[in-house]
Amino acid sequence: MKRYMVFLLTVLLLCLGVFVLYPAKTSGPVQSPHETTSPVSTGTVPSSTATPNPLLPEDISTILDKDDTVPVDTIPSSYTALVNRNYLLPSDYIPTDLAEPNIRFSFGYRDDKRKLRKEAASALEKMFHAAEKKKIILYGVSGYRSYQRQKQIYDRNVAIRGRSATDTVSAMPGSSEHQTGLTIDISARSVGCRLDQSFGDTKEGRWVAKNAHKYGYIVRYPYGKSKITGYHYEPWHIRYVGRSVATYLYENNLTLEEHYGVSCNKPEKDTGVDVEEPDKVKYATPKPTKKPRPTASPKPKKTEKPKPTKTKKPKRTKKPTKTKPPRKTSAPKPTKKPDVTKKPVSTPTPTKEPAATPTTEE
Ligand code: DAL
Ligand code: ZN
Repeated sequence: MKRYMVFLLTVLLLCLGVFVLYPAKTSGPVQSPHETTSPVSTGTVPSSTATPNPLLPEDISTILDKDDTVPVDTIPSSYTALVNRNYLLPSDYIPTDLAEPNIRFSFGYRDDKRKLRKEAASALEKMFHAAEKKKIILYGVSGYRSYQRQKQIYDRNVAIRGRSATDTVSAMPGSSEHQTGLTIDISARSVGCRLDQSFGDTKEGRWVAKNAHKYGYIVRYPYGKSKITGYHYEPWHIRYVGRSVATYLYENNLTLEEHYGVSCNKPEKDTGVDVEEPDKVKYATPKPTKKPRPTASPKPKKTEKPKPTKTKKPKRTKKPTKTKPPRKTSAPKPTKKPDVTKKPVSTPTPTKEPAATPTTEE
């Protein structure tokens, strides 16, 4: 019996020991069902929880893909500056690097109109020289004009033919590219060195239209684009813009206005022809109401003389490097077809090549 009591006591003590020891091993702070274990930081934040950067667009590719705008260049001294009746030059703007190109002129006296800016003059020399190698003899007729000189020309044109007709052929002071020193009117003996739309149909005019871009020049007021440029077809008026832009515009059949996504409204009355010397011009368009002086030349009736038929339209090529400009506009889409609706007709061509008529300005 005594042994039995000892055994019971031992068992009791053992159970007590287990009871006392077990809770001690499992006790500790009780975890709340609302508490979670903190994750190990990996140094990155899941993208789904990242805060958007307010300085970036939602999809940056929408910006990077937008390569169809060319900002308008309005810096007067820039080779690609847009100058027209909406984008004027300051009246006191005079290029600082005017120089006389070593070319044939249609007149013999000294005058600022022989001058062009240095780079444009050098490019013109190269162009005239390349033309000569192909037996194409070109003449410079009128290059740089100051604001004041352009005012004289414009006012004289207005006095002779009226404002509306003048605005289709002659630029108001401040709006003429001649003031940039990057533009020159050129002609050939076959049209008496006149600034005449029929120059575009001569072998010289055709050569210029096809090759000027190689030397950085464009025919600034092409046939069929008068609604965009605001001026009638002027195959003689070439503008230096540099080789890459000139080639781009030529290959894509674009005017400078189209390149920059702007246009110049054409004046309501669509008559007349250039220009500096109204009384020396052979009229290829309807005669002005106030005719300056009878001319011996034939006067075709069409407003715009057609351009020689193009057999192949150049494909749109890569845009040239952009310039740094003050503001942005939308660039135009490439023109699919020329906006010529009239059927081209040929204009009278002199049967005999006349002698060069020196212009007698002033
Ligand atoms: N004939 C062009 C438009 C000018 O006067 O500049
Ligand atoms: Zn001109």
